[in-house]
Amino acid sequence: MSLPTAVRIIEVGPRDGLQNAPPVSIETKLKLIHLLEEAGLKTIEAGAFVSPKRVPQMADSIVLFQQLERKMDVCYTALTPNLQGVEDAIQAGLTEVAVFGAASESFSQKNINCSIAQSLERFAPVVEKAKKHEIRVRGYVSCVMGCPYQGEILPEEVSHVCEQMLLIGCDEISLGDTIGTGTPGRTHQLMDAVLNKIPVDRLGVHFHDTFGQALANIYVALQYGVSTIDSAVSGLGGCPYAPGAAGNVATEDVIYMLQDMGIETGVHLGKLAKAGWFISDVLNTQPTSKVSNAMRAKLEKQE
Ligand code: HMG
Ligand code: MG
Repeated sequence: MSLPTAVRIIEVGPRDGLQNAPPVSIETKLKLIHLLEEAGLKTIEAGAFVSPKRVPQMADSIVLFQQLERKMDVCYTALTPNLQGVEDAIQAGLTEVAVFGAASESFSQKNINCSIAQSLERFAPVVEKAKKHEIRVRGYVSCVMGCPYQGEILPEEVSHVCEQMLLIGCDEISLGDTIGTGTPGRTHQLMDAVLNKIPVDRLGVHFHDTFGQALANIYVALQYGVSTIDSAVSGLGGCPYAPGAAGNVATEDVIYMLQDMGIETGVHLGKLAKAGWFISDVLNTQPTSKVSNAMRAKLEKQE
């Protein structure tokens, strides 16, 4: 087991973070994305081409990408559940997209209205179309450490779906602890099962922090050599179809930990914290990131 020397952070705040929050304006989203770029984030999940009736907060994604001034060295991504989604992504000129399935039958039905097998059938042409346009595809697998509807999910069930996602052509798998019930012990079991089927350089982790274990779980994944981490600024996030789930692990908390471990991310913590304070103030909430709150308290003391 060896730790990676550098980690790719996938900043999912503008998508996962805002999909379950009170709606904000396009201007707010654009400013947030801009502040995240300024902080050095190189991959930003900025929207979702999904049904506007199912997730109204993402209904402006087409317009958002039209208005977004892009930086050459930043990869902007979006969710694409079906052919209509990937066509929107092609129109938007994206170079990376994500399909999203699950290791739980019940969650699959609630979230994307089909079984796991049907989702794989639906994703295959989506991935194929993306590939024709040289678009990289991530494959999310949700409920890897528990499901809000059916409870326990076995690591072998997860590794099976991951393997299928790679077979249809996904470049990378992102393991979603959608409801944040995972623990370091369970993460060990998950990694052992999944890495049996998937090379570590094609694996990322996407941990929600409902039970406060996400950072510890990430530390376990790092020890297995995982070097792609999804996180959301300020600890925003949640899925409208995962009742009771809290936000993603906060990007600030991940960066603080990685910096101290000498793992390169390219992210400037001070600027990142400011991006988090901006969006938290708009949403009229406190960041759930302890790092962010500690930094703000220290600043206020100095003033
Ligand atoms: P469906 O319900 O099977 O039915 O859609 P459909 O394909 O017949 O479409 C239903 C309606 O949606 C139609 O409109 C379509 O036009 C429209 P209507 O005729 O009723 O007016 N529609 C679309 N509109 C815009 N863009 C599209 C699109 N596709 C259909 N691409 C579908 C299936 C998946 C599209 C739908 O169920 C859906 O959008 N679900 C929302 C899923 C979602 O966004 N969930 C949250 C993100 S996943 C997540 O958060 C987990 C993750 O973070 C990882 C983790 O934490 O584990 C990724
Ligand atoms: Mg999520």
